[in-house]
Amino acid sequence: MGLDPKIEELRERRRQGQLGGGEERIKRQHDAGRNTARERLDILLDPGTFRELDAFVKHRSSSFGLENQKYPGDSVVTGWGTINGRLVYVFSQDFTIMGGSLSEVHAEKICKVMEMATRTGAPLIGLNDSGGARIQEGVVSLGGYADIFLRNTLASGVIPQISVIMGPCAGGSVYSPALTDFIFMVNETSYMFITGPDVVKQVTHEDVTFEELGGASVHATKSGVCHVVGENETQTLLLVREMLTYLPQNNMEDPPFQATKDDPLRADAELDTIIPDSPNKPYDIKEIVNRIVDDGVFYEIQPEYAANIVVGFARLGGHSVGIVANQPMVLAGVLDIKASEKAGRFIRFCDCFNIPIITLVDVPGYLPGTAQEHNGIIMSGAKLLYAYCEATVPKLTVTVRKSYGGAYCVMSSKHTRGDLNLAWPTAEIAVMGPEGAVEIIYRRDLKEADDPAALKAQLAGEYREHLANPYIAAERGFVDDVIEPRETRARLINGLEVFQNKRDNNPPKKHGNIPL
Ligand code: HXC
Repeated sequence: MGLDPKIEELRERRRQGQLGGGEERIKRQHDAGRNTARERLDILLDPGTFRELDAFVKHRSSSFGLENQKYPGDSVVTGWGTINGRLVYVFSQDFTIMGGSLSEVHAEKICKVMEMATRTGAPLIGLNDSGGARIQEGVVSLGGYADIFLRNTLASGVIPQISVIMGPCAGGSVYSPALTDFIFMVNETSYMFITGPDVVKQVTHEDVTFEELGGASVHATKSGVCHVVGENETQTLLLVREMLTYLPQNNMEDPPFQATKDDPLRADAELDTIIPDSPNKPYDIKEIVNRIVDDGVFYEIQPEYAANIVVGFARLGGHSVGIVANQPMVLAGVLDIKASEKAGRFIRFCDCFNIPIITLVDVPGYLPGTAQEHNGIIMSGAKLLYAYCEATVPKLTVTVRKSYGGAYCVMSSKHTRGDLNLAWPTAEIAVMGPEGAVEIIYRRDLKEADDPAALKAQLAGEYREHLANPYIAAERGFVDDVIEPRETRARLINGLEVFQNKRDNNPPKKHGNIPL
């Protein structure tokens, strides 16, 4: 007996590469430097592991000539496969079929894999290439998006949800990604906007290109919407595979352990001299990160957005960790609105998925001024505070230099349930820096002094000796130990092993009310 004719027809179309919106549209997709929906899945998934669902589904609409445009599977390819041998669910929107627009059945197909992913506790990866709601289907399509948004929200914190933007995405196809954990974009061939340049022109009379409105360059540097940018589609999809190596499958699992040849006791003498003598001289905190983590490998998130704080994944002694570090090279490592939101969101992701948080502190405080105040630094700064206070994963902190003012409280301090708080001998923990402090407490003396500069230097020296060092905090137990910088890696790995089974709970509640 031969194959069922319907199955045979589908397989033959697939063999001939005919699935999708036809040769001409596939050529257009390739000419624009983009792969088709299926080619992308071939790159993303382990070879031969993709199992498609709902390939026979066709849309149900007959308005506006749609009855003559029925394609098997409609405008999205869905199913499951593996990445590095671990199960993932996927959907890949097909721009060659009506611009990947979301029909009723397109939404149903996505909802089905979302529900399967949530039920079986495996990540969901969406490859987005869509003009949004299918205009011809009207409210049915809008309802389909709302169904997806609901499932995005319900799955949040249960399974990792990753969105990859691979073409011009508008409307719902950017709002669904916005509800997921991480957004990847492809440099120069992917765009995100709530509506495209034509509508912008009509509404605001602005002339703007796709790239200027919503290219990767904009979202990775200005809006902060995008977390990771790849140079091309293949590199972007490989970056998704790499990120998954740090993540558990769901919120009930620990992240995967990856054995390393990098000695957990490895001491790095260069760290002893890495902090410049002058407290205001910048250095690159990423060099410290690279020297501490396994094999110097750091997977940075949003490297070009709010670069005054550095966040990303790494491993320590084989354990997956989230790193949060102030960056003295950018704005002296100050906390501002963008940095607080960037780090707060990352911390909450780590906390959802049982990934310990390592915090490296060198922070002069929150950024003052009208621009920050008028844009809500009070509320945004509180988001970071809330995220740290709420987090129950192991929290290990190393203060390497400055830790002043409110920023001391915020940056994973002992008081906010820090599990292990270490400091380098170069740490200065105080309400504010020596110069600022003496100007306030000795204002009158300085005014009346014959040589105010000399007096100020002398008083600042005394202040530093008495207040701006790690030992006062250590005397109180706010710092658990003052360590040699070279020991940092060994001490952190030891701390991770000690605290990996810690139990910390928040009071029972429906959910908290983070200052959004
Ligand atoms: C139906 C659509 C479509 C849509 C594109 N197409 N968007 N069909 N519904 N939403 C079709 C086009 O007719 C065309 O068909 C093909 O897809 C390719 O589109 P082009 O315009 O030729 O491509 P390009 O120049 O690359 O521009 C892509 C685009 C643009 C920027 C996405 O098509 C566009 O602006 N589309 C509308 C975007 C939008 O406003 N969507 C609704 C959002 S509201 P042919 O037959 O020529 O191949 C929404 C609500 C959700 O999503 C709720 C949010 C909270």
